[in-house]
Amino acid sequence: MQHALALHTPSPSRRVPYPAHLVAHAALRDGTRVTVRPIRRSDLALERAFVFGLTPQTRYQRLLSGRKLLPGELRRLTDIDYAHELALVAIASVEGREQMLGVARYVRDDAHEAGSAEFALVVGDRSQGQGLGETLLRHLMRAAAEDGLAVLTGITLSDNVRMIGLGRKLGFRAHREAGNASVTELRCALDDARAEALHATPAFDDALLWGAG
Ligand SMILES: CC(C)(COP(=O)(O)OP(=O)(O)OC[C@H]1O[C@@H](n2cnc3c(N)ncnc32)[C@H](O)[C@@H]1OP(=O)(O)O)[C@@H](O)C(=O)NCCC(=O)NCCS
Repeated sequence: MQHALALHTPSPSRRVPYPAHLVAHAALRDGTRVTVRPIRRSDLALERAFVFGLTPQTRYQRLLSGRKLLPGELRRLTDIDYAHELALVAIASVEGREQMLGVARYVRDDAHEAGSAEFALVVGDRSQGQGLGETLLRHLMRAAAEDGLAVLTGITLSDNVRMIGLGRKLGFRAHREAGNASVTELRCALDDARAEALHATPAFDDALLWGAG
């Protein structure tokens, strides 16, 4: 079974520059304006505050366990090698200070299946149900398709109706893991038709959503 966090990639090669073309802006259902952008090494403090602010239930759903992230793991999640992985963060300005509201990431997994990547997604508790998970996953899928990936997979708890509902909405198929019914794999082929559909049906009728993408 794949690991939910995929922390096993090589250390950053620094050969691939920051993918600034992936910066975009979105509006959530409650009107909150967010910037969706690739994570940067300098986001460590924002990432730490975000992760430590998650409720135990949300952390459990993300990590598929009750463990806490170690400082080295947080650094590893922030200081990424864009040649092998991508993390898109949603940043809002709250009382003049930047705050991370959610993050979606994928890590290439060619050793397991050529052209595939494993994704993970988490939205902070106070921002859930506002369309942010969908926004982040759409942007991640588009970026993955543009990066030449053919398949995106992810694992979630089988009782995580939100994640499975969101995945299905965006074209993922859900399969229970053989021999472990408590875990479900989500899988989506990133063909041209899927990429077109992601462009054609944004989460909101808000030109801002795809504006700077
Ligand atoms: C799962 C998660 C990422 C969803 O993000 P979100 O911002 O709350 O979801 P959104 O508001 O974008 O909802 C998008 C779609 O998800 C689906 N969805 C949301 N809540 C749902 C529910 N309770 N039941 C079924 N489907 C649901 C719907 O299709 C929804 O679209 P709609 O609002 O047009 O009906 C978020 O709840 C989360 O971070 N949970 C904890 C961590 C986690 O479970 N990560 C997944 C493991 S990788």
